[in-house]
Amino acid sequence: MAAAAAAAASVLSTAAAVNDCFSIGSTVVCTNCFSEEIEGEVLAFDHNTKMLVLKCRSKTTDELSDVYVMNLSLCSNVQVIKECNGNSTDDPQKLNLEQVKMRLRKTVERRQDFLKSKNADVSPEAQELYRAIAKQYGYNEVSWQGLNIQILNEVTISPPYRVDNVVSSSNNESSCNYIKRIIKQFFNTRPSPALENTTTATHNSTAATVPTSSVSSVSPTSSSLSSSNAASGSPVPAN
Ligand SMILES: *[C@@H]1O[C@H](CO)[C@@H](O)[C@H](O)[C@H]1NC(C)=O
Ligand SMILES: *[C@@H]1O[C@H](CO)[C@@H](O)[C@H](O)[C@H]1NC(C)=O
Ligand SMILES: *[C@@H]1O[C@H](CO)[C@@H](O)[C@H](O)[C@H]1NC(C)=O
Ligand SMILES: *[C@@H]1O[C@H](CO)[C@@H](O)[C@H](O)[C@H]1NC(C)=O
Ligand SMILES: *[C@@H]1O[C@H](CO)[C@@H](O)[C@H](O)[C@H]1NC(C)=O
Repeated sequence: MAAAAAAAASVLSTAAAVNDCFSIGSTVVCTNCFSEEIEGEVLAFDHNTKMLVLKCRSKTTDELSDVYVMNLSLCSNVQVIKECNGNSTDDPQKLNLEQVKMRLRKTVERRQDFLKSKNADVSPEAQELYRAIAKQYGYNEVSWQGLNIQILNEVTISPPYRVDNVVSSSNNESSCNYIKRIIKQFFNTRPSPALENTTTATHNSTAATVPTSSVSSVSPTSSSLSSSNAASGSPVPAN
């Protein structure tokens, strides 16, 4: 808690220090609260709310740019990497506020959903399985009951969350089978732990790095997750 407060204080002073230096058209790079770097051209800056609007290169197409509204109070670092060259850029386009509100609402919902899937007592893999199931059933239909994943208040999956661990309180065959299919598919698309163990055991240190890296490359937590500052919480897939 003390560390968090200190971090927040240093964040605020970072923002305060750069307050007066933003000129429209300069290029800045911000590190947001998920340690992602957002680089873009300053479109606007509001001193009172510490909101910075950046125009960034679109990840998907060259013709468009993404507009980020950054809350500098939540950024851990802000750096001006190129001052405006003095030539004014095009006027920023009008924002569709309804669309911005909708985006914000959706982002908050996604973050809340992601937080629901978190459970400190189970493996990251089990949390991923939870998300895979919630994707099919909707986050409102899935919950943690201790270490168990519960679906529709009826079907329970207990550790180690395999097909054999699926139980339906009302013996509903069809929901059970559907959930078993999700589980099967989930574990089929990731490296088998058995294979990992034999590889590690048979070949020593050199081979051991191979399964480790293949496991981490499958994990979606860092690669496919991106976010904005719309709400606090854990990162969830954007859009
Ligand atoms: C920016 O973040 C700070 C800290 O969480 C918060 O108090 C403030 O309301 C946010 N500003 C806006 C405009 O949302
Ligand atoms: C600014 O614009 C002028 C003329 O419009 C141009 O000659 C000059 O190269 C531009 N400067 C930069 C840094 O782009
Ligand atoms: C089994 O569960 C599904 C999904 O909740 C439901 O549509 C179906 O009516 C249930 N069947 C029985 C026999 O309870
Ligand atoms: C893999 O190894 C871990 C410990 O290194 C062990 O707990 C686990 O049971 C092993 N899995 C299999 C499938 O052998
Ligand atoms: C594996 O490595 C350990 C130490 O890292 C060593 O003691 C052992 O002899 C090695 N085994 C083989 C089969 O190379």
